[in-house]
Amino acid sequence: MIAIGMAYYPEHWDRALWEEDARRMAKMGVHLVRMAEFAWSRMEPEDGRFDFGWLDDAIDVVARHGMRVILGTPTNSAPVWLYHDHPETRQCGRDGRPVDVGIRGHRCIVSPTFRRYAERIVEEMARRYAGRPEIAAWQIDNELENSHCTCPACRAAFRGWLREKYGTLDALNRAWGSAVWSGEISDWEQIEPLLAPDCMPDWHNPAFMLDFERFGASRTTDYVLFQRDIIRRYDPQAVVTTNCCFCQHLPDFHSEFAGLSVAAYDNYPPTVLPDDPQALYSNAFALDFIRGFKRQNFWILEQLGGPGGCWSPFGPTTEPGMLAGYAMQAVAHGADLLGFFRWRSCCTGAEMMGHGILDHDDRENRRFREIEALLRRLERMPELDKSALRSPVAILYGADQEFALKNQRQSAKYAYWTQLRLFDEACTGLGVNVDVIEEREPLDGYRVVVVPAHHIIEPTLPERLEAFARAGGTVVLTNRSGVKDKTGNCVFGEPLPTAFRALCGCIVEEYDPIGERRQHVTAGDGARYAVTGWCDLLATEGARVWARYDERFYAGTAAITKNDFGAGHAYYLGAVGEKALYRALMAEILGEQGVPFLSGLPQGVEVTTREGGGKRWRFFFNNTAGGVRFLLGEETVALRPFEMAVQTEKGEWL
Ligand code: GLA
Ligand code: ZN
Repeated sequence: MIAIGMAYYPEHWDRALWEEDARRMAKMGVHLVRMAEFAWSRMEPEDGRFDFGWLDDAIDVVARHGMRVILGTPTNSAPVWLYHDHPETRQCGRDGRPVDVGIRGHRCIVSPTFRRYAERIVEEMARRYAGRPEIAAWQIDNELENSHCTCPACRAAFRGWLREKYGTLDALNRAWGSAVWSGEISDWEQIEPLLAPDCMPDWHNPAFMLDFERFGASRTTDYVLFQRDIIRRYDPQAVVTTNCCFCQHLPDFHSEFAGLSVAAYDNYPPTVLPDDPQALYSNAFALDFIRGFKRQNFWILEQLGGPGGCWSPFGPTTEPGMLAGYAMQAVAHGADLLGFFRWRSCCTGAEMMGHGILDHDDRENRRFREIEALLRRLERMPELDKSALRSPVAILYGADQEFALKNQRQSAKYAYWTQLRLFDEACTGLGVNVDVIEEREPLDGYRVVVVPAHHIIEPTLPERLEAFARAGGTVVLTNRSGVKDKTGNCVFGEPLPTAFRALCGCIVEEYDPIGERRQHVTAGDGARYAVTGWCDLLATEGARVWARYDERFYAGTAAITKNDFGAGHAYYLGAVGEKALYRALMAEILGEQGVPFLSGLPQGVEVTTREGGGKRWRFFFNNTAGGVRFLLGEETVALRPFEMAVQTEKGEWL
């Protein structure tokens, strides 16, 4: 059974409502109530004075109605008294000055003072609640980012981290190439983690930035483990996770979740779909990405329950079917828990217009009825959580690639994520499951491995990809691969794609970062595709040409190549294309690999499959705002906007 969760903040509501809210939630079909995140000032109103009475009562109410609790540690929002009494617990910004306190998330997760207070409150909670039958799981903090804090504690920690990594300043200067612009460091104390403003990250030394991001990631992971260990001290079996999102400074998610029980994500798909047919708006990729953190099914701790209205102007109301469709999309990609955000829109505070399922008027509205109907529908698929997605295709992701390509922009239109998403979209558009996995993961079991923009060479990857292709697999590499070594510096004396040259059977003769300009390539079958962002001008060394450029001085030059390698193949995409290019390419590759796929699905229709216990569920999601129709064998399938149809292995529609 897919578990249903609900975000509820007892501290926002009059106690008189708790009982009735719990009764209604249970009646609706909720199993898990997520609470206590952000409630530090209620649990510790003054330094060292704890009050858990209200939380005990709230947990009791939930339990009385047959539900269990996902308990959040409140450390995202420290109480005002803590910042006031201990200003060193505040994060510092790019300018090195403490941030103003007043919203949330101001704490520095590295500050020893903050850690002391965080340890105490988490320990108080763990001592009281860990191991109790009412507690189903723990959520650490909220939406952790890569720490970019520049406070004195973080500076010292950064220097310590570098010292441990490099040992000597000589090694550090060599790695960073600090001779450029007289950047050489002659004393560890000279190292400053101050960051350039967002508009000009690429003014900094990329090797330095890479280390700064890796350091930040190590702090975030360390912080998660620090809290996990406190909880596990009191309940070694505790299910512990944290809710991640695509925040401004992405952490190294794979390392963050490696030590946690399950990956969890806050899923807010777009409520307004873009007009541009080339826009990549679907959350399908994000869901595949989260599933890859632990190569297992995952949880949604916050699932869109109403239109947004905090942090920005109000969003338009959700279209009929959208909330249920998006929730089912998460299930279709491997979610085993759907935790809706939130039960009711709050009447106070910054998020008063961030809409929950219920509005301020507390009536059972259209959103409520839609989600209630979804829960009834999920009850008819009781074995779904015993199933998983098996994928013939893997897309490789690396945190280093994200860090490097974000901090040194390649061209105006160029983004690492775009190519990851384009391949993911092509697969779900062909009805083929696709995993997004960390680049050091084993490749066994896949037929196709796609490696978009592998910029920083993961040292074992060239050999592993060669072995994979030699054994009959297909590898796909793209532009901006093999550019830099692990220190973040350019590889010297070898044409791109350097370490992947033999595998691809081609070299990059020259490149043209075309930015927003649109050009075209023509494939061997005559199909023409628009490209933008980047163009590698390829010279073949054994590979065949799959597509050539149409315009400018390099008209006729190879843009996409295909090389035979052992029993398999390696494709190289020199440019970033439109959606149709990826679909055509993946269809060819899947065909060659003998992987069955669906052709003719309309744009925006996503098909994935979960299997387990001899059963199979095939999900057909219309992720567009218009109705669609298509043929499935002999049968015509019609889907309303955001409708999810589910077909069993027996061909029944659920
Ligand atoms: C995030 C947070 C929530 C809430 C929602 C609002 O995901 O985790 O606390 O602020 O956004 O949409
Ligand atoms: Zn700090």
